[in-house]
Amino acid sequence: MAGMWSGLLFRVAKQWIAGESYEDALKRAQESSTRKVRGIINLLGEESTSTQEVEAATAEYIEVLNRLDAPKLQSCISVKPTQLGLSKDKAVYRYNLERIVSKANSLGIFVWVDMEGHEYTTETMDSYIEFRRKYDNIGIAIQSYLRRSGEDVIRILDVNGMIRLVKGAYNESPDIVYKKRSEINQNFSKLMRIIFERGKWFAIATHDEKLIKEAIMLSNAHPTVDDFEFEMLMGIRDKRKLELVDQGYRVSEYIPYGKGWWAYSKRRMTEHKSNIFLLARSLIGD
Ligand code: FDA
Repeated sequence: MAGMWSGLLFRVAKQWIAGESYEDALKRAQESSTRKVRGIINLLGEESTSTQEVEAATAEYIEVLNRLDAPKLQSCISVKPTQLGLSKDKAVYRYNLERIVSKANSLGIFVWVDMEGHEYTTETMDSYIEFRRKYDNIGIAIQSYLRRSGEDVIRILDVNGMIRLVKGAYNESPDIVYKKRSEINQNFSKLMRIIFERGKWFAIATHDEKLIKEAIMLSNAHPTVDDFEFEMLMGIRDKRKLELVDQGYRVSEYIPYGKGWWAYSKRRMTEHKSNIFLLARSLIGD
């Protein structure tokens, strides 16, 4: 993608990503914190197979940890297993995750592990359970579209793990995932009820108003829950984030950055029709 097109597309993408460098992400986390929204910094990119790419991503996360003024910003990071080597070698992934989580632990910073395509679910889960036994600063995303997620939620709760509940963003086959929106939402509600009953610290990560309202009702019904937060993506429902903060809820936003912004922005664009109009308008120079 060269020249003018790249420039125009980047202009549209800028609503969902902080920029290309970690300085941009740290700046955005700073801005969010002035609105009492916490940042979750994520370096874009996945399915890395070259040793250099994997090493560079790991080193960059460690640099972000060093630069993140955690006590002030109350921000954290989110990593993708295949960015740290999972699609190449499980041992390399675990080694890199250990480097990041132990560093973050020494600085008092939380690390979320994103959930990717179904071929990585089992290893992402197994390694999470092992890491959780050793570290208390690590959480994992669970996708409500996955048919197996009910069992995974129980396994995580059994080790007092921290869950970020999402719907799921990958194109999977119907024998693995629920395809109908109504079934995905129903499973989200079901898993959310279990998490509110048994979880102590967790995140409800959706922009879906019906599910946000349901989470508020559940939090009123479970005053024993220590802490939970709403999580949304940067540039989506920004006004709603601030309303939730005003109502006393804890809110974090996922702040992606990096050179891999096009694939990520394409996903956000196709998720919601109005974004296609936004793109078109920007391309014709409005
Ligand atoms: P849904 O897509 O049904 O949207 C509900 C409503 O939200 C829409 O009607 C609209 O109002 C608004 N909305 C949603 N997307 C929008 C958009 N792009 N533009 C404008 N409005 C929009 N997935 C995954 O597989 N693994 C992971 O680790 C993560 N991690 C993650 C972290 C965080 C903090 C969030 C918020 C999300 C993820 N996801 C994820 C992505 C997730 O699986 C899902 O694809 C998106 O959150 C969109 O789903 P919703 O729950 O918002 O519902």
